[in-house]
Amino acid sequence: MDLFSPQFKADPFPTYAQLRAECPVHQHTATSSGGGRIWYVTRQADVEAILKDAETFVKDPANARDGKKFGGGGLMANINRNMLFADAPDHTRLRKLVNLAFTPRRVETLAPRIQTIADDLLDQVAGQDSFDLIDDYAFPLPITVIMEMLGIPQADRDKMHDWTKAIIAPGRFGITLKGRKQRMRAFVEYLGETFEQRRQEPQDDLITGLVQAEADGERLSEAELSSMVALLFVTGHETVVNLIGNGMLALLAHPDQLAMLQADHSLIDQAVEEMLRFDGPVETSTTRWAAKDVTLHGQNIKRGDVVRVVMTSANRDEQAHDRPDVFDITRPLISQNHVAFGKGIHYCLGAPLARLEGRIAILTLLRRFPHLSLGTPLDQTQWHTGVTFRGLKSLEVRVG
Ligand code: HEM
Repeated sequence: MDLFSPQFKADPFPTYAQLRAECPVHQHTATSSGGGRIWYVTRQADVEAILKDAETFVKDPANARDGKKFGGGGLMANINRNMLFADAPDHTRLRKLVNLAFTPRRVETLAPRIQTIADDLLDQVAGQDSFDLIDDYAFPLPITVIMEMLGIPQADRDKMHDWTKAIIAPGRFGITLKGRKQRMRAFVEYLGETFEQRRQEPQDDLITGLVQAEADGERLSEAELSSMVALLFVTGHETVVNLIGNGMLALLAHPDQLAMLQADHSLIDQAVEEMLRFDGPVETSTTRWAAKDVTLHGQNIKRGDVVRVVMTSANRDEQAHDRPDVFDITRPLISQNHVAFGKGIHYCLGAPLARLEGRIAILTLLRRFPHLSLGTPLDQTQWHTGVTFRGLKSLEVRVG
């Protein structure tokens, strides 16, 4: 098993089924990535238990090993001092600062703007026989939304994306260590200038809110400020692209389900939840460290060991889901207990926004192009490698 290989990414589900049955807590050494030894946990009950136990499975290695400090030092500290890599009380303080901007009620006010963005993107491909659902639609939609929320000009989109690629997946894009450092430095500098500009001229955006929160004595350091913006920017677009991409692939590969949704658009909420469960955007959680020795299914996890839980495996666990390998958009919402957004204190802050974007993106597409079909044969779909995200490189769709 090589979790980083294209062969594995093409269909990881049989391997996960085998792991759940035979070795639900599995220590894996990455062969091609140099990623070190990591415990992978694949059953839903264990995944939930680990995510909910933030005292035993911590995000800040300083709480499980000696020496390191929250978010590391040097350049990385300007990116990594964020809530996703923090334990309480830092986590509580950082999350509280942005919680209000992401509540379902607040996010719902963005619906008309998200609708306009979706319509504009589809206007640009109207008249073509086919288009790339990822590059032309699934990618630009959420990145435009999160940039507008933050208050970053759209003209800076390409450079922002280039910089953050270097942070989250340098290997995937063939970026060298030197190239990575250069990009990170440029990114941090750009953010520093933006913060300064907002201090001088406040605007109605999230960055101004964060800069002012700092001024109000909320103790948000400059490194925490840039780390927060980097986190929101990356999580705000790297995931939703995969919800739209993987979700539409599942729908187009199951014409009966597509026809059902076309006939009754009120099924959209259930359909989006099923897309998240069936082939979710985040394959594996971010890294956690064991703060004490733990024995799980006969495996001895030692203090300081690295643990990751596999969401896409848990969501197909036969002990937790009825007919887990069946894509069924009519599953009642009440029975949806997937872990696509995680659990516990790090449960996805952006879940209401992601659901809204997914709902609007998919319905707009189906209304505009009622005869959409796959342009890429199913066995030729290409997936990005890497253990954290699960997403397509491209997805050609035919309009007629
Ligand atoms: C369908 C799309 C999305 C999925 C599947 C998803 C999934 C997740 C998951 C699994 C986690 C927890 C990771 C862990 O515990 O290791 C998480 C955390 C987070 N997500 Fe999302 N996410 C999505 C969209 C978004 C969006 C649109 C935003 C908006 C900014 C966002 C912001 C965050 C943040 C800030 C955290 C960290 C929360 C914390 O540490 O308390 N996500 N997400």
